[in-house]
Amino acid sequence: MQQPIGIFDSGVGGTSIWKEIQKLLPTENTIYLADSKNAPYGAKSKEEILDLSIKNTEFLLQKKCKLIVVACNTATTNAIDYLRATYKVPFIGIEPAIKPAALHTKTKKVGILATKGTLSSSLFHSTSKIFAEGITVLEQEGTGLVELIEAGEVYSKTTTELLKKYMDPMLEEDIDCLVLGCTHYPYLIPILKGLLPQKVTIIDSGEAVARQTNTILIKNQLSSKIGNNTKHIFLSNSNVKVLKNLVDGANVEVFHLDF
Ligand code: DGL
Repeated sequence: MQQPIGIFDSGVGGTSIWKEIQKLLPTENTIYLADSKNAPYGAKSKEEILDLSIKNTEFLLQKKCKLIVVACNTATTNAIDYLRATYKVPFIGIEPAIKPAALHTKTKKVGILATKGTLSSSLFHSTSKIFAEGITVLEQEGTGLVELIEAGEVYSKTTTELLKKYMDPMLEEDIDCLVLGCTHYPYLIPILKGLLPQKVTIIDSGEAVARQTNTILIKNQLSSKIGNNTKHIFLSNSNVKVLKNLVDGANVEVFHLDF
């Protein structure tokens, strides 16, 4: 089916998920919605996150998207149950990869860096409870990081200092896995690698989300078979420059749109 896959995030972070989807599913068209004007979602109330997720979903449905990827941990953990119960299209969400981290850790101590909205959600707590039995999960809110990435300031001194401040207490507790619980954070991996000892494995859910998207497309007979002339449309309601820098390439078009 040639209809696009819709993807939304509070901003540019979900492009880390789009990259995995495009790699695995090169025959699919996509529309990506960056609600950067309202970023960060992580500091908002559950009701606000839900309202914004509904708005983004309805926008993508108007564009005839056949499946929607909620490429935002904060929106997934606060809104996906409602979205699935309300709209007919399949939804793919993203949650912090606590399960793989719990299986991988030798020190039985796992760090998670995520937004306040994700860490305080009941979905995150129930997942942690199921999968992290016997494991100490050290939670750290990544306050300020989304704003820096949205401003295109990944490689700034402020970003490195902030990350160091967040990592040091976890390292003192001897974590050997760090879960990235926000789709903006994969862009911080080069800096994190410079701050973390080699024994710390960085885990994110991007690839798993792409695989799950494929599974659900097949299950619902929604896969696109024709790979020629695929199109990837990116829409942002804020400055498009940062978004453009992250996704520039063939078949990619980036537009500013008021929504
Ligand atoms: N990319 C979003 C996430 O995965 C960032 C949330 C925010 O805007 O605070 O949680």
